[in-house]
Amino acid sequence: MKNKELIRIGNNTSPVFVSEIPDKHFKRLWQLHVGSHTNTTVVVLADKQVYDLHQSWIESFTSRLNITVANTQLLVAGEKIKQLAVAETIINEWIALSIPKNAIILCIGGGTITDLGGFIASVYKRGLRLINIPTSLMAMTDASIGGKNALNLGTYKNQIGTFHAPLFTFVAPEFLKTLPETEMASGYAEMMKHGLLEGKNFLKKMLNIVPNAAAPSTSLLVDSIRIKIQIVDSDPTEKSKRMFLNLGHTFGHAYEGFFATSGQPITHGCAIAWGLTEILFASESICNLHSKKIKDVAAWLNQHYRFDTIPIWEQLKEYIVSDKKNISSSFRIVLLNELGRPFIQAIDENGLKSIHSLFCNKNGLRNLGINN
Ligand code: GLY
Repeated sequence: MKNKELIRIGNNTSPVFVSEIPDKHFKRLWQLHVGSHTNTTVVVLADKQVYDLHQSWIESFTSRLNITVANTQLLVAGEKIKQLAVAETIINEWIALSIPKNAIILCIGGGTITDLGGFIASVYKRGLRLINIPTSLMAMTDASIGGKNALNLGTYKNQIGTFHAPLFTFVAPEFLKTLPETEMASGYAEMMKHGLLEGKNFLKKMLNIVPNAAAPSTSLLVDSIRIKIQIVDSDPTEKSKRMFLNLGHTFGHAYEGFFATSGQPITHGCAIAWGLTEILFASESICNLHSKKIKDVAAWLNQHYRFDTIPIWEQLKEYIVSDKKNISSSFRIVLLNELGRPFIQAIDENGLKSIHSLFCNKNGLRNLGINN
């Protein structure tokens, strides 16, 4: 990408736009996708912290559109808002306000906001139009794209969800300037997942990244979004290839659930970094996958997302058994035949237990403490 202020990624159904000059582009895209002749009712669902930091900008672009903002929900973002009870409260308010079926939900925030907003958009009066403005790296490269949303059931991740594609997703890297370092690092872990699925130049670039407070270049951001969009467009409802995007997530979600329950929550990206490392070791063992790059990726993940303790299988099991990716008594995990060549493997509980004990015993990178 060279000096392009506005990049379009994806097909006509639900494109992603990356804009270096959001003030200039948002109105034009709104008019293109929504129209400007009739006044549109809009409901805003936003991360309160993001809204407070960027209020004047958000209000300046909404005030230039032919819309009526009928309700603004400002939420303290986090996994705890991804609950049916929160969705129900918002829906009740909108019913009381007579929000019509032709309204648009505008989601401004990270992945928990776009997940909640996407879910409500898909069920309120059997479906409202949705526009996402992701503000975290995780949401820009993953959660806000492709229409998959989910709510948690207690601490069991993503047990309830739908597919509901946004009219478009508007990525303004500008928002990353105020993103906390832990959230930036969390997003970089999902980008590394895209690197493993791509296996070539993007992966090479990711290995040179230090996942700290610095935002990625717009070109790296665009490459990461492109990898996800290519997969989503080939299989929007996750019948086949889209499952590859779950790389590292079976164990990752279990870690996230386990640590949330234990009262010491970790970021989604940290959990995924651990889950990816686990899958790299499993792919080495099951698929005979050996390459220097695998070791480089495992070392990168270990260096930047290290934890002090790993829960044992008995502690993780219940979170894996509840995982949505599993059918009947077997589990489906994504392994790598080679870098850039993922495949789905059906595996039983003992197989997963062996993968986990391999991971716990692996001490090539560091000694892992096991917390009983
Ligand atoms: N986050 C995985 C997917 O969108 O399929």
